[in-house]
Amino acid sequence: MKAGFYQFGPIFGKKDENLKKVSSAVRDTDLELLVLPEFFSTGYQFISIEEVAELSEPVEKGYTTEFLSDLSHENNLYIVAGLPERDGDNFYNSAVFSGPDGLIGIYRKTHLFFEEKLYFKPGDTGFRVWDTKIGNIGIMICFDWFFPESMRTLALLGAEVIAHPSNLVLPYCPDAMPVRCLENRVYAVTANRIGTEKRKEAQSLKFIGQSQIVSPKAHILIKASEDEEMLMSAEIEPETAKNKELNPFNDIFKDRRPEIYRC
Ligand code: ACM
Repeated sequence: MKAGFYQFGPIFGKKDENLKKVSSAVRDTDLELLVLPEFFSTGYQFISIEEVAELSEPVEKGYTTEFLSDLSHENNLYIVAGLPERDGDNFYNSAVFSGPDGLIGIYRKTHLFFEEKLYFKPGDTGFRVWDTKIGNIGIMICFDWFFPESMRTLALLGAEVIAHPSNLVLPYCPDAMPVRCLENRVYAVTANRIGTEKRKEAQSLKFIGQSQIVSPKAHILIKASEDEEMLMSAEIEPETAKNKELNPFNDIFKDRRPEIYRC
């Protein structure tokens, strides 16, 4: 299965420009799974609830969801992409999963980062895994990676590939993901963004790029640079993630001792 990410620098508030950029980047692609960054269509640094209200959208029949569903259909492609979601009076940092037949599902970010807490509600979907033609796909969003429970939960639910839309600013994730993948024996596709947003005088956010695809044995299959726009892909074998055996005596899931753990 050919999986990939599109690392780019969304322009804050310019939804149509950002969508156009994505559709040109994936034109005639032979990818089967594409992961886009967190808040790929709007930019990241919201500075008021009015902005969040203006740029967020319902997922069902929303403008960006329809765009993603069409892109999936036209290119026979599964897509995981982050966007600000509006559900009544509530806003969530969400990821949409679309496939060749349309919208498959959504995930709402469990662990909010920094000032996201001012505007968004903590996700209430829980972690989810979808059994699809290209494998069992689970989703987490950016800072969720910091909590080992996120990938552990997804792996215990049967995820073979974890799609990870991100807007990383801290430096740790690229080094941590090989360990997260190894301890769960899963693939991960982290799609980060590049560029800087300084929409507040005293606060500049520099996004670290370095999107990557990591294998269940901790190999970094491909990795983007810190500051370049890139569509990159790797051939992966999701079904190999079902095997949690290290040797004839150790299976890292069967050997777990949850009765001894404190979490
Ligand atoms: C993050 O969760 N956007 C760092």
